[in-house]
Amino acid sequence: MSLTKMSPLLKAAEEGGYAVGSFSVANMEMVLGIIKALEETNSPAIIQIAEVRLKQSPLEIIGPLMVAAAENAKVPVAVHFDHGKTKDKIKQALDIGFTSVMFDGSHLPLEDNCVQTLDINKLAKEYGADCEGEIGCVGGSEDGSEDIAVNCTSPSQAVEFAKYTGVDALAVAIGNAHGNYKQAPKLRFDILEDISKNVSAPLVLHGGTGILPDDFRKCISLGIRKINIATATFDSVQANVAMKYESKAINGYYDLQAAEVEGAYKNAMKHIEIFGCAGKA
Ligand code: 13P
Repeated sequence: MSLTKMSPLLKAAEEGGYAVGSFSVANMEMVLGIIKALEETNSPAIIQIAEVRLKQSPLEIIGPLMVAAAENAKVPVAVHFDHGKTKDKIKQALDIGFTSVMFDGSHLPLEDNCVQTLDINKLAKEYGADCEGEIGCVGGSEDGSEDIAVNCTSPSQAVEFAKYTGVDALAVAIGNAHGNYKQAPKLRFDILEDISKNVSAPLVLHGGTGILPDDFRKCISLGIRKINIATATFDSVQANVAMKYESKAINGYYDLQAAEVEGAYKNAMKHIEIFGCAGKA
């Protein structure tokens, strides 16, 4: 049984100077492809689903599947509820056995974000689970339905927020955004460095899709320990399926299913290599 909490994975990443991938999933094939990549490379990781994605993948169905996949993995896998917006859904994820939850109060005034994140952190702790918060505003939106502008994290507010809420991981906004970038983002490494020097909680980079490998490495060198990847997985699955159809390699449903698993696997392999977490399980 390798279901684990997020905090020991991030602590080991801090000590080892690498980052752990937090891969969003929407179905069983994505879960299988990602775990195959983790086992092959002996990597720890997090699998996650965001609250906005539950219209397509209901939590009561995909949640137990994610937990079961982590329990059966040969490497440590944490199961995370991403961008939690409502206490009801966050509680449902904890009841299912998710080992960490995020409360996304980044759109709220600082004080409300602090108070509500602390409340969710206390709830998570009742389950022995970890809690991630966000300060500043990552651009875009997790399901691409809103075009939210980036609002970079204020380092002094990050200190205040981390101290007040006691979160186990802190998501920062440094020019990153969810979804595909029109052009590679210019990340504010100066802000990241400042936050990193003053906040002891492990830092999280959302909006991983489209960030250049060297920029990932620089973020990791400046203290990013968890990197969220969603769109790149979905795109890789779609592209792999299209490529297999084009080459007439799909002749029936099970070929289609295998192409989906492979699409998720290829994307996870690429990111595991960049994040430096191979061999760290
Ligand atoms: P991307 O879709 O840009 O990879 O963002 C993922 C993410 O941050 C999920 O929380």
